[in-house]
Amino acid sequence: MKIAVLGTGQVGGALGRKWAAKGHQIHYGVRDLDSDEVRAAVESSGPNASVGSVVEAAASADIVVLGIPWNVTRDVLEAIGDFEGKILVDCINPVNADFNGLEMDNSTSAAEMVADWAPTARVVKAFNTVSAASMEDPLYDGQQASMFYCGDDGASKQVVHDLTKELGLEPVDAGPLKNSRYLEPLAWLYIHLAVHGGWGDCAFKIIKR
Ligand SMILES: NC(=O)c1ccc[n+]([C@@H]2O[C@H](COP(=O)([O-])OP(=O)(O)OC[C@H]3O[C@@H](n4cnc5c(N)ncnc54)[C@H](OP(=O)(O)O)[C@@H]3O)[C@@H](O)[C@H]2O)c1
Repeated sequence: MKIAVLGTGQVGGALGRKWAAKGHQIHYGVRDLDSDEVRAAVESSGPNASVGSVVEAAASADIVVLGIPWNVTRDVLEAIGDFEGKILVDCINPVNADFNGLEMDNSTSAAEMVADWAPTARVVKAFNTVSAASMEDPLYDGQQASMFYCGDDGASKQVVHDLTKELGLEPVDAGPLKNSRYLEPLAWLYIHLAVHGGWGDCAFKIIKR
């Protein structure tokens, strides 16, 4: 698939590298083509990767993945403008500036705001409840970390489901996009455990019988 990965940081770099290795065409969308981080991400992704502006990357792709901070998201989406026919994968956690919670209560979610700012996109919330380290290496003592995703378009969710399996994570359909109101606080719980609770590298695993 042709995938635009916006951002070459921890999330963008991990997803781009692994999908490129699986044969997908990765077009990184960045704001500074000459930064060391961008160069490293493109080089480590091999021949299936290229780089350009966020607008160029999005225009070239079937899927656009948001690996950027919450506070620039609206501007980036509005600069791109047209998402007709594209899947927009929202990995963002809207963590507040004090790093002690989320920007919003659960009467809405970042993903629903993303859908408002990119009304022609088919938005899937995904990858926000797993760390970049788990995207790189999804196995914990032989068990796959679970990756919850949600959205309102079944075909788009299936694409994200399949891309998740390619990473080695366990995809879990968490329902409609509105359920981002639960996935974003769940990610905050993860961040709290990992950063403030001393758990370090850890992941959610859902089990059933
Ligand atoms: N880290 C995790 O474990 C993790 C897990 C799940 C979800 N997330 C979420 O994923 C998103 C990315 O997190 P991250 O940890 O990968 O952050 P990061 O390492 O700080 O990377 C952020 C990337 O966004 C780029 N960026 C910033 N402003 C931009 C703009 N205006 N236009 C284009 N690119 C811009 C940065 O490029 P520059 O170098 O130019 O600033 C950088 O490549 C965040 O929303 C975060 O909440 C993170």
